Amino acid sequence: MTELSPSDRATAQAELVSLADLTTPYVLRAAVGLGLPTLAKKGITTIEELAKRSGAPVRTVRSLVAYLTLKGVFVRSSGDNVELSAVGELLTTDQARIMLDPREVGSHLGLALSGLPPAARSGAAGYDAVAGRSFWQALDQDDALAASFDRYMAGWAAQWIPDVLAAYDWSKVARVVDVGGGDGRLLLALLSSYPELRGTLVELERAAKRGRDAFAGKGFADRSNVVVGSFFDPLPAGADLYILAQVIHDWPDDEAIRILRRCADAARPNGRVLLVERLVEPLPSLQHMRADLLMLALFGSGERSRPEFTRLADAAGLHLINTRTIGHDLSLIECVPCP
Ligand SMILES: C[S@@+](CC[C@H](N)C(=O)[O-])C[C@H]1O[C@@H](n2cnc3c(N)ncnc32)[C@H](O)[C@@H]1O
Repeated sequence: MTELSPSDRATAQAELVSLADLTTPYVLRAAVGLGLPTLAKKGITTIEELAKRSGAPVRTVRSLVAYLTLKGVFVRSSGDNVELSAVGELLTTDQARIMLDPREVGSHLGLALSGLPPAARSGAAGYDAVAGRSFWQALDQDDALAASFDRYMAGWAAQWIPDVLAAYDWSKVARVVDVGGGDGRLLLALLSSYPELRGTLVELERAAKRGRDAFAGKGFADRSNVVVGSFFDPLPAGADLYILAQVIHDWPDDEAIRILRRCADAARPNGRVLLVERLVEPLPSLQHMRADLLMLALFGSGERSRPEFTRLADAAGLHLINTRTIGHDLSLIECVPCP
């Protein structure tokens, strides 16, 4: 490598500092935890009033706001008064708050990422190494955390579900099982769009209850069924389609194969298995690699490529027959059971 000029070296040095810096991520979280963006959106523009309304010392609020003004999250309006920039406005959305407020589930994603160094060495979940329990155990033991996670997944689902509905021929499906289907949002959308369709949700207790309430609330109790159980156990047999939406990426290969095998067994001989996942391309996007490393940190798993899904499917007694890119960086991966 050629010797860098002093100015190129200084640029590279500044870039490294910016890449490695943890200050901004934590300042954002501190500000969101105090509710500063939401207060600013309500028209609170002075440091004193922001401090009074958030209950934090004036000195700390001044520092947070000064830093975030330099970063373009707040803008000075007049004198010492501040308001939100367009980026700052985004911090007031529910999804941003779930990711950044230290009381919400996003803080556990941060905990997982702090376990990335040991995860990178061992290949096992960084979250477990740091928290001493798995992420799913943490949700089981903390109702508020689980509610925060389910709210995040529901908000995200509202974005990608229309893509899934549009990208698949649902008219040939009479009975569908959504395996690990969260609070049943995808099934709700399908039941609403296809009046002949019947749906089963298989979920752990907490999400299953939400799903049951949602189906009853929409008047779908007679066309839906909720099974409280684990996808590591036998699944309801004989449906036309078994959906696994963003489930397989939560699990390392051995567990992923066990889940797929349960779907293959239940779908055999004429059913299909449909995965909704991020499909990592040979030249992956930054977004896919961010998700991939988060899955490593959280679960010791990762986002997979088509050859990796093909290998998992083969090991589980399935043929991967088709993949199709849909919106929001997701793909449909369709499999049929081997005879
Ligand atoms: C990443 S979420 C995906 C939820 C939903 N499919 C979606 O895309 O919005 C994974 C889901 O798997 C469920 N899950 C985890 N372990 C499970 C198990 N052993 N059996 C059934 N569901 C499980 C979780 O409760 C969670 O709702």
